[in-house]
Amino acid sequence: MADVDVAFIQEPPHRPNPSLIQEAQGIPLIDLSCPDVDALVDDVGHACRQWGFFQIINHGVPPDRRHKLEEVASKFFHLSLDEKRKVRRDVRKVLGYYDTEHTKNVRDWKEVYDYAVQEPTLAAASLDEDDDRVAHWENQWPENPPEMREVCQEYAKEMVELGKRLMELIAMSLGLPAGRFEEFLKDPTSTMRLNYYPPCPSPHLTLGVGRHKDPGVLTILAQDDVGGLEVKRKSDGQWVAVKPIPNAYIINVADVIQVWTNGEYESVEHRVMVNSTKERFSIPYFLNPSRHTVVKPLEELTDEQNPAKYRPYKWGKFQLRRKLSNFMKLDTENIQIQHFKV
Ligand code: OGA
Ligand code: NI
Repeated sequence: MADVDVAFIQEPPHRPNPSLIQEAQGIPLIDLSCPDVDALVDDVGHACRQWGFFQIINHGVPPDRRHKLEEVASKFFHLSLDEKRKVRRDVRKVLGYYDTEHTKNVRDWKEVYDYAVQEPTLAAASLDEDDDRVAHWENQWPENPPEMREVCQEYAKEMVELGKRLMELIAMSLGLPAGRFEEFLKDPTSTMRLNYYPPCPSPHLTLGVGRHKDPGVLTILAQDDVGGLEVKRKSDGQWVAVKPIPNAYIINVADVIQVWTNGEYESVEHRVMVNSTKERFSIPYFLNPSRHTVVKPLEELTDEQNPAKYRPYKWGKFQLRRKLSNFMKLDTENIQIQHFKV
């Protein structure tokens, strides 16, 4: 018998299996302060090709900024549910607090708080291809903790800078000019997420986040010292734990880069294990393009021998469709949860 609601329970093939975890031969570690730019670019290219994931150290983000955000996240998630729900996300207010996220129809063992990096963020308002109306995404800042807004905004600025630098390195690693991606990232729809994974009485049946790929361009993740993130190794499909390194960031290629590079850099599946005693926090920055961006393989990376493998899509419409489907899942929660027995 499980000690958790059935909505959280993963089907047997997707349940965490601690015996498979291997930390040796984990994702690459890259020192961003390396003065040899060619070597750095090579390392980034290699990591993107082999793993789609890497960790960075000496990245220039002041540890204090991160520490303050971690403190604020902890204070916020320890407030009462009623208090947190004052800034709850809904169909009209797409940013804020949320505790019923599903990944592939199974409920995740976590709570989140989302905020947009640009204020306001200009996003698509309609799924209709010919309807260019714009939605203004506003952040919902809680009253408590009072410093939350400022701390979140200051931290986001650091992510924007680091994101730019990483995109330059990635462009160079593909033999492109450093600024190749700038045009897509001018008016971004990037978001930040504070993730809170409470201790779970049935960690062998549930996941903090089920296996998924990130839909945007690139993700920069801060994880605390508890650990739990696992990455699907490309070479053999094994789940590999990502070892927490103090003050490091975990970078992963997301779906848009896969399309831009015509599959040369693949977006990789990952998931999060929870545990029965410790709570865990993580803070991803999801770097997203502008709503106007038509996502398609870059001309420089395609030719007759290597024709485009992906059909173009408008980022704004895609992002809106995802947001809406999140809420549709909520409405149908009761029918979707159970097609297997525990
Ligand atoms: C995510 C994610 C990983 C983590 O939020 O998309 O993959 O370690 N998080 O929390
Ligand atoms: Ni993710």
